[in-house]
Amino acid sequence: MKKINTAVFPVAGLGTRFLPATKAAPKEMLPVVDKPLIQYAVEEAYAAGIRHMVFVTGRNKRAIEDHFDTAYELENELQTQGKQALLDLVRSVQPSDMDCTYVRQSHALGLGHAVLCAEHLTGGAPFAVLLADDLMIGPAGGASVLAQMVQAYERLGNSVIAVQEVPQDQVRRYGIVVGQPDGERLLNISQIVEKPTPEKAPSRMAVAGRYILTNAVYEQIRQQPRGAGGEIQLTDGIAGLLHHERVHAYQYEGKRYDCGSKEGFLEATVELALQHPEVGAGFRDYLRALNVKI
Ligand code: UTP
Repeated sequence: MKKINTAVFPVAGLGTRFLPATKAAPKEMLPVVDKPLIQYAVEEAYAAGIRHMVFVTGRNKRAIEDHFDTAYELENELQTQGKQALLDLVRSVQPSDMDCTYVRQSHALGLGHAVLCAEHLTGGAPFAVLLADDLMIGPAGGASVLAQMVQAYERLGNSVIAVQEVPQDQVRRYGIVVGQPDGERLLNISQIVEKPTPEKAPSRMAVAGRYILTNAVYEQIRQQPRGAGGEIQLTDGIAGLLHHERVHAYQYEGKRYDCGSKEGFLEATVELALQHPEVGAGFRDYLRALNVKI
């Protein structure tokens, strides 16, 4: 079985829910406490053993490229000032054994289209897709969500998609899957639909922004007409894949924050700030003293 070596990060969306913050900067560079969303996702992929990161960028690509590159002036300055801990922190963003490649999606035609832009960079092998605006925190002391999925892929040998159950009134925000239980935390998917209405949703099992996909998905995406919202949907490509291959849904262990929405972003900020080794204790005291009446 082929190892998962490449992760694709589609970061070319318009991020309209976060305007004006996303007018000139990609939403994936928004920081939760002190780290941009994209760095959480890259660290998750790295922790899953992946060393080749492919970013599908849009018109605001500079900030992401710069973030994962050497920052000569900053590093020199920190070195001169003897600020070793900060220097190590800055350098740790791009480990020496990690490669980054950038490809441009010139029109935001949808997530499926963005993934297709990475086809020539995944080498015909299965690959991971991470949507950085879904911030995934694995269980304390346990494997990251993508690492759990890589383990499932290594057992099954087919595509694996992260899912979680959501309330009925939220199904219209997600891809929704139906499948037969097939081992611990696993469903063998029989159907997948993008953003159904609550009345039409075949289940409440919603796709989260983590995927391991076989190379065959590209051909399926190519065959799709424009779907929900006039975009080329990854979900429709996966639906096509179901006619040819098994695809499993994996109910991950951990927590997902929908940082593409203001509410999710605020929840992540508060919860991760409370856990932060440097500011957590002080922030907890601050929230207590705030004594908000709700
Ligand atoms: P979203 O559905 O969150 O869309 O995309 P968006 O444009 O980023 O944000 P809103 O809804 O306007 O606020 C899901 C993921 O797919 C990427 C986004 O960057 C995000 O990670 N994406 C989406 C692309 O890379 N290209 C696209 O054409 C669409």
